[in-house]
Amino acid sequence: MEYFLGIDIGTSNTKAVIFDRAFHVAAKGNSSYALDQPRNGWAEQNPLEWKKAAKNAISQAMREGKIDASDFIGIGMSGQMHGLVMLDAENNVLRPAVLWCDQRSVAECEEMTERIGKNALIATTANPALPGFTASKILWVRKNEPAIYARCSHILLPKDYLRLLLTNRYDTEVSDASGMQLLDVPARQWSAEILERLEIRPEWLPKLHESVAITGYVTAEAARYFGLAEGTPVVGGAGDNAAAAIGTGTIKAGRAFTTIGTSGVLLTHTDAPRIDKEGRVHTFCHAVPNAWITMGCTLSAGESLRWFLTKVLKGEISVSQAMREAEASPCGANRLLYFPYLMGERSPILDSYARGMFFGLSGIHTRGDVIRSILEGVSYSLKDCHAVFEHMGIAFSSMKVCGGGAGSKLWRSILANMYNCKVLADDYAENGALGAAILAAVGVGAYSSIDQACSCVGFADTMKQPNPRDVAYYQKGYGLYQKIYQDVKEDYRILSEMTS
Ligand code: XUL
Repeated sequence: MEYFLGIDIGTSNTKAVIFDRAFHVAAKGNSSYALDQPRNGWAEQNPLEWKKAAKNAISQAMREGKIDASDFIGIGMSGQMHGLVMLDAENNVLRPAVLWCDQRSVAECEEMTERIGKNALIATTANPALPGFTASKILWVRKNEPAIYARCSHILLPKDYLRLLLTNRYDTEVSDASGMQLLDVPARQWSAEILERLEIRPEWLPKLHESVAITGYVTAEAARYFGLAEGTPVVGGAGDNAAAAIGTGTIKAGRAFTTIGTSGVLLTHTDAPRIDKEGRVHTFCHAVPNAWITMGCTLSAGESLRWFLTKVLKGEISVSQAMREAEASPCGANRLLYFPYLMGERSPILDSYARGMFFGLSGIHTRGDVIRSILEGVSYSLKDCHAVFEHMGIAFSSMKVCGGGAGSKLWRSILANMYNCKVLADDYAENGALGAAILAAVGVGAYSSIDQACSCVGFADTMKQPNPRDVAYYQKGYGLYQKIYQDVKEDYRILSEMTS
């Protein structure tokens, strides 16, 4: 038999999913790790944890499916975007990776805007300077850890660090590279001008490819460590959101999806770059050649629920029990509003100082109300992105939902009512790994195009229709949600300066 392997380096775990030629899941493996938050607003992970996790996930999947290394005809990768991995000349990891949700580089974003100019930055990189993106993290290390910066020889994104381990090559592809803010996004190439203005050495960057290109082959050393076969082709793959776009069939204008993983993303395919002048949502290259994506990202989506269940309830109840209790709470959670800004917020408010908040707590509230308010608060934040899309005139005729949160019927129906549109969920639990496998399949020539490969995927969609009563409630709730944030916005900065 012939199989494709999709590897997805997420924020909470790495997944390895094996697909047959028609993209049926043959087996999967999964290995988790922690998200280190050494300071309020910081987020790091040791890249060596990803290496171990990938090895565990791959061997678990191969064992489960009784699949031989020589059966893989292509490997595709997807991963958390924006993370800064710094290596020395011998490929030693110089410091923990600074992740996508880390907010430490606000001052460096101001420096970037000054050096380049806001309009020029948006025209080239398609986005304003944001602490979540890689460029400002590089500047932060240069300023705050000069000894580490002096030893740097290579800069990679999380999935491309794994690629280096597999192929011994420094490569990336356009969809993930877009999130480094060093790319000319409309032209799909590194921007010599941005690199020069920021004084970042171009030779530190990996070689850039389109997402369907074969970037290298598994080396003998990697074959031994990961249990793979030497010479297996490794294809570009994509940042996790572009990969999920492929893995949900979001490959044509008018299609969109929402994913609820650690972060929450609303993403749509566009045939040309569509840039919000205020930079409230992001524009990146799609993994589909000659296409782009526009997406809004709320930083703590599944992370809000994980925080509440693990840090507050200390694992007292399971996720399914949490969902049962939330289902018993009415729409609006008995007038309780949650703001999911645990790590500051990206889209659309772009506020590194914002933090989470419950509004309207009362003695009547139960655990179920609090959990429901968390699901609704994350969905209000996604609706906030949806409103920007509407403002930009980007319309969609279909909306898929995926990621861990899509497994909850309740969360799916809250989203349908929040967006006031029907939402579709398929039974692929791992759309990112599926997207990576589809890119691998196209890269090795098993399919002639992404479109052809996607049309062979048997998406078995279940649909959730909005109901007018809840739609009306959330429309009112959304107005209040926006107003409260505006009312307290300045106070977040005061809070961030308080010391005990
Ligand atoms: C997107 C973003 C997140 C990460 C999560 O801009 O930062 O969705 O990719 O893995």
